Amino acid sequence: MKKICVVGLGYIGLPTAAVFARAGYDVLGVDVNQKVVDLLNKGEIHIEEIGLPELVKQVVEKGKLKASTHPEQADVFIIAVPTPIHEDYSANVDYVESATKAIVPYLENGNVVIVESTIPPRTMDDVVAPILKEAGIDPYQDVYLAHCPERVLPGRILIELIENTRIVGGVTPEAATKAGDVYRAVVTGDVLETEAVTAEMSKLMENTFRDVNIALANELAKISARLGVNAHKVIELANKHPRVNIHLPGPGVGGHCLAVDPYFIIEKATEESPLIQEARKINNSMPHFVTNQIERMTCELDKPVLAVCGLTYKGNIDDVRESPAIEIAEMLMANSRYDVRIHDPHVRDEQVNFKLSSLEEAVKGAHLLVILVDHNEFKQWDEPFLLENMKTPVIFDTRNCATIHDTQFVVHRIGNLTNLQAIQEVE
Ligand SMILES: NC(=O)c1ccc[n+]([C@@H]2O[C@H](COP(=O)([O-])OP(=O)(O)OC[C@H]3O[C@@H](n4cnc5c(N)ncnc54)[C@H](O)[C@@H]3O)[C@@H](O)[C@H]2O)c1
Repeated sequence: MKKICVVGLGYIGLPTAAVFARAGYDVLGVDVNQKVVDLLNKGEIHIEEIGLPELVKQVVEKGKLKASTHPEQADVFIIAVPTPIHEDYSANVDYVESATKAIVPYLENGNVVIVESTIPPRTMDDVVAPILKEAGIDPYQDVYLAHCPERVLPGRILIELIENTRIVGGVTPEAATKAGDVYRAVVTGDVLETEAVTAEMSKLMENTFRDVNIALANELAKISARLGVNAHKVIELANKHPRVNIHLPGPGVGGHCLAVDPYFIIEKATEESPLIQEARKINNSMPHFVTNQIERMTCELDKPVLAVCGLTYKGNIDDVRESPAIEIAEMLMANSRYDVRIHDPHVRDEQVNFKLSSLEEAVKGAHLLVILVDHNEFKQWDEPFLLENMKTPVIFDTRNCATIHDTQFVVHRIGNLTNLQAIQEVE
């Protein structure tokens, strides 16, 4: 049975390591974070993902998954370290470089080396391969080097790791086949082989496609606000066309994928990517659009009390990376005119730089309830409780997720700001 070394034990590396361990492989998980390693060796984990605590406990107890801060010799090496952007939006591939350098001393002829991290086009050939070459390893002959991007959805990672179609891009056709075989052993979805650069670009275009389409919906929301049109109705009707699928507008795009990956293309082909750049600008402008609407809604009040609900970058997760909701909350808090209370049942105090409130604390005396994330908790509301506790029953739903029945509420949605009237103070 083969031995696999997975470098980087985060949202991607840890479930990947556990899935291979469950399939019977001897897996060594490697992370630079000693805490992550110590926890894993006790059969515990540091991230939230459905089914993962039970699976990790089971494979660690069986001795199939171990963790260390240093790699060891193995048949297959999988690198799943972060690839963030620098402040100037350029790609930071430092972690991929250091992880590659860390495995070099343990590489033997015939090993399969896979990078799963999302990377800018040509990184396999221009960054990873040269590191091996410098160490005296021919990346095109001695080992099988490939890029296999990840496309799992948080909350469904253990299912999608097995069922999704995998794209395996080799630096040679043989590398694609050998790396593909690694996945064929555990994956029920298709495993499609291609060149490394094609795999790199296909992953980036998946997220760019979504970013650009969300930007189009967001632009529609702004146009609709200007023209007094209900964008939700427009989308519903336009999507009756058999080949049209307009996305939903929202408060912006966040997370470490959609809000990051398009920049990897922009950096490599700036002149050729005006549409992708404009989409990023439109999505980045949405937090301002949201705060401007809140300003319009509250302009007649002396000290508007805002109950801001939701901080994560999408619903039903605990991840606040690049979240537009955080940006909106911080902009509102920076405005001394507002009394801002912030509530998110999925976020812990230590994840943010400000104080969180319970739902009761947030809505007590609020003039406006602002929904920034479509958590299940924010789809249905205890309406009598809100009516009893809010000063004025006005809701701004930026995710179009809440179902509100009582007609005493005034509900504004980001795509439907027709009839927007300033909230009046009540005694
Ligand atoms: N999380 C997702 O849903 C998702 C989906 C698709 C693609 N990706 C991509 O997968 C990659 C990993 O993302 P993630 O969300 O798992 O990141 P993460 O931040 O959750 O975890 C990365 C782990 O790598 C460790 N690490 C950093 N440098 C290291 C090194 N040199 N050696 C060993 N360990 C090191 C960190 O300590 C951390 O535990 C990124 O490129 C990301 O864009 C993520």
